[in-house]
Amino acid sequence: MTTIQYAQLDWDENGNPISRAFADVYFSNESGLAETRHVFLAQNDLHARFSALQADARLVIGETGFGTGLNFLCAWQMFEACARPGARLQFVSVEKFPLSRADLERALSLWPELKTFADQLLTQYVAIHEGFQRLVFDSGRVTLTLLIGDALEMLPQLDGAIDAWFLDGFAPSKNPQMWTPELFAELARLAAPGSTIGTFTSTGWVRRALNAAGFKMKRVPGIGHKWEVLKGTFMGWPVEAPAPSAAKPWFARPPLSTRERKALVVGAGLAGCATAASLAARGWQVSLLERHDDLAQEASGNRQGVLYLKLSAHGTALSQLILSGFGHTRRLLEQLQRGVDWDDCGVLQLAFDEKEGARQAQLAQAFSPELLHVLDKADAQARAGVALDSGGLFYPQGGWVHPPALCRHQANLANIRLMTHNDVLQLRRDGDAWQAWDGERLLDSAPVVVLAGAAEVKRFAASAQLPLKRIRGQITRLPMTENSQSLSTVVCAEGYVAPGRLGEHTLGASFDFKSDDLTPTAAEHLGNLQLLREISADLAERLQVSALPVEQLQGRAAFRCTSPDYLPIVGPLSDRERFLEAYTVLRKDARQVPQTECPWLDGLYVNSGHGSRGLITAPLSGELIAAWLDNEPLPLPRSVAEACHPNRFVLRSLVRGK
Ligand SMILES: Cc1cc2nc3c(=O)[nH]c(=O)nc-3n(C[C@H](O)[C@H](O)[C@H](O)COP(=O)(O)OP(=O)(O)OC[C@H]3O[C@@H](n4cnc5c(N)ncnc54)[C@H](O)[C@@H]3O)c2cc1C
Ligand SMILES: C[S@@+](CC[C@H](N)C(=O)[O-])C[C@H]1O[C@@H](n2cnc3c(N)ncnc32)[C@H](O)[C@@H]1O
Repeated sequence: MTTIQYAQLDWDENGNPISRAFADVYFSNESGLAETRHVFLAQNDLHARFSALQADARLVIGETGFGTGLNFLCAWQMFEACARPGARLQFVSVEKFPLSRADLERALSLWPELKTFADQLLTQYVAIHEGFQRLVFDSGRVTLTLLIGDALEMLPQLDGAIDAWFLDGFAPSKNPQMWTPELFAELARLAAPGSTIGTFTSTGWVRRALNAAGFKMKRVPGIGHKWEVLKGTFMGWPVEAPAPSAAKPWFARPPLSTRERKALVVGAGLAGCATAASLAARGWQVSLLERHDDLAQEASGNRQGVLYLKLSAHGTALSQLILSGFGHTRRLLEQLQRGVDWDDCGVLQLAFDEKEGARQAQLAQAFSPELLHVLDKADAQARAGVALDSGGLFYPQGGWVHPPALCRHQANLANIRLMTHNDVLQLRRDGDAWQAWDGERLLDSAPVVVLAGAAEVKRFAASAQLPLKRIRGQITRLPMTENSQSLSTVVCAEGYVAPGRLGEHTLGASFDFKSDDLTPTAAEHLGNLQLLREISADLAERLQVSALPVEQLQGRAAFRCTSPDYLPIVGPLSDRERFLEAYTVLRKDARQVPQTECPWLDGLYVNSGHGSRGLITAPLSGELIAAWLDNEPLPLPRSVAEACHPNRFVLRSLVRGK
C-alpha cells in the first residue's frame, strides 16, 4: 500500500480548482453541473433506472476519479428526486489524490444547489486514508465507498458488480497512465450484466479499447464545448481474452435460498449491534437477541474504550482492516455526542523503549502525518497535559468512545427489535428457516442468523470448531481530580488511560488468559495502577492513586474474544465435515482448486473475534456481513475479506494435512 497523497490544487480567477499535477480542470468551467448530468447521468440512463428501482433494490455506480465529488453529488441528487423509499444507491469511486477537506469545501461551495448533499459529504469526509473507506449517508440509503489509491491498484481488489460506470479521470492526453487497456479490463471484470458506461472523451483509441474490453461504445452528441461524448453497454467478456479468475469456491458468495429479508442477530455487543444496523439500513427486519437485560453488558460495556490503531508498516490484511475500520467508526461517531459518547482528543502511544521507538519511526515513514506523527518528549507533554518520560506517536484523529453509546446508536433503528433476556441455547433448522431456542422456548425464527455472541458462538454445533479464545480483562475507574483534568489526550504504553468522562477516567487493562471469573480483583486493580505509573508518574500523582484504598477501587472485568491470527471472524459459515470431504484433495496438493460448491450452512453467518479492538473492527464488519448477504460490493479488499473469512481455519487444517 502506498501512502496517501493529497491533491495539489490551483484555483483559477473564477474559483475553479485545477490539478497542478495534471494541469487539467476538475470540471467544465462554464457548465460543470450540466456536463456531469449529460455525460454521466443521461448516458447511463440513470433517471429511468433510479425510478424503476423496487423498494429494497439498489443500483451500484462505479467511478474512476472521485475528485471533488461533483458526479457523486449530482447522482445522489437525482436519486433522491426520483427513487422510491427503500431503494438504495451505492457509489464506489477510486481516487489517487483525494482533496483535503478544506479544498473539498471550497470546491463544493461553487454549487449552491447541491448544498444539502455537499454538507452531508463534508460532515463524513473525516479520517479518509489509503485503502477502502466507507461513508454512509441518510441512514444507509446512500453509501459511498472510496478506494483511495491508484485505479490500477485498487480496482483489482474490489469485489462487486457495477451497474453503471462513470469513466472520468482528466483528459486521456493529460493522464495516459490511467487510460489503459488494463483499466478497461477491470471495468469489464467488474461490470454487472447489462452494465452501462459514460465518458466525456470521444477519443478514437479510447472508444476502440473499450470496445475491445467488451463494451459496445457509441458516439453521441456532447454538451458545451464537447462536440461528442461516448456511451456504452457491456456486452460480455471478450471471447478471445482469458476469463478473469473467479473466487475460490470456499470464498465465493453463498447463494441464499429465500427472499424473505428477516434476520436474527444473536448478541447485542458492538458486533451484534453493528450487524443489526447494517442489515436494518438495507430494509431487513432484525431481531437482536441478547441474554442480558440490556445491550452492551459484556466486553462492550466499559465506560471508555480507546480508538487505537495498531498498524503495520507492511500493509498486512490486519493493518488494512484497521485503517478502513477506523475511518468507518470515526465517521459513525460524528453522529454521537462529543464529550459524553466519544471524544476525538487524540491518542498518544508512548515510545517507552528503544524497540517501540524504532517501530514508531517506521510507521511515521509509512503513513501520512494526518493519521500519525512522532512527537518528541516536550511536544508529547504539551499535548497530553501531564509530565511524561518519553515522546511517542500521536494519532490526532483517535480518541475514546463510550461503547454502549455506539451500540445504542446502532441498535436504535425502527426495524430492529431488541429482545433482551433471550439466551439462545440452540439453533434448529426448520425448512428454509433457522429457529432460536432457549431450552423448550422457541424465541424466534428467520432464514438468516448472524452469530455475534463473541466466544459464545462456540456453543452452537455449527460454529463450535471456530478457534475463538477468551481473554479476561479488567479496567479500573478512577475519580477525576482537579489536577487530573489537565489530561487532554488518551495516553498508552502497555496500558491506557483516557481523559475524564462524566467525572472519571478509565484505566486499562489487564490480560488474563486463564481466569474464567469476572469478579474484579484487587490484584488486577493494583496491576492497572502500575500500568498507570509506567504511563506517567505525574498523572498517577495528580490522580492521588497512592491515597486510594485498594478495596475501594471500582472497575469491571469482561472477556475479549480473539482468534489465532488476531483477525476477526466475519462471514458465511459452512458445514465443516462436508467441507473436509469436498476439498480433501487439498491435503495432498494445496494448489488445487476443485470446482465443487462449498457446503454452506444456508443463511448462517458469524461476526466475532474482535479481540482488543472491537471499536475499530466491529462496525465495518457489520457492513461486510450485509455486503455478503445482499450481494453488494464488499467494503474491504477481497483479500482482506478472505483473511477474515470463517472458512480460513478449516482450509488451513486441510492444507496442513490435519
Ligand atoms: C477490559 C477490556 C478493555 C477493552 N478495551 C478496548 C479498547 O480500548 N478499544 C477497543 O476497540 N476495544 C477494547 N476492548 C475490546 C472490545 O471491548 C471488544 O472487541 C468488543 O466489545 C467485542 O464486541 P462483541 O460484540 O464481539 O462482544 P461482546 O461485547 O462481548 O458482546 C457479545 C454479546 O453477546 C451476548 N450473547 C452471547 N451469546 C449469546 C446467546 N447465545 N444468546 C444471547 N446473547 C448472547 C452477550 O451477552 C454479549 O452481550 C476491550 C475489551 C476488554 C474486555
Ligand atoms: C476530472 S477529475 C474527476 C472529477 C470528479 N469526478 C468530480 O466529480 O469532481 C479526475 C480525478 O481522477 C483522479 N485520478 C487521476 N488519475 C488517477 C488514477 N490513476 N487513479 C485514481 N484516480 C486518478 C484525479 O486525482 C482526479 O481527482
